[in-house]
Amino acid sequence: MNNIEDMLNKDLENLREDLIGELGAINQYQKHIDETDNERIKKVLGHIRDDEKEHFAELTKLIRDLDQTQEEKFQKEEL
Ligand SMILES: [Fe+2]
Repeated sequence: MNNIEDMLNKDLENLREDLIGELGAINQYQKHIDETDNERIKKVLGHIRDDEKEHFAELTKLIRDLDQTQEEKFQKEEL
């Protein structure tokens, strides 16, 4: 494996870890929304949760662009 391939694989590995982080953040914000009765907190956390969903989409786009096999799998599922 050459150096460029190594770098690409490391980038993809890191992006997948970042994707995991975004999913964990979405779940944590949702849990904290569900656990509070404070409407102000619910509103702010709901906004932040939705920002994390955007981050998830942005990272997914990067991965799709960099990983040809992953892109083919998305297309196969009509995504
Ligand atoms: Fe995020």
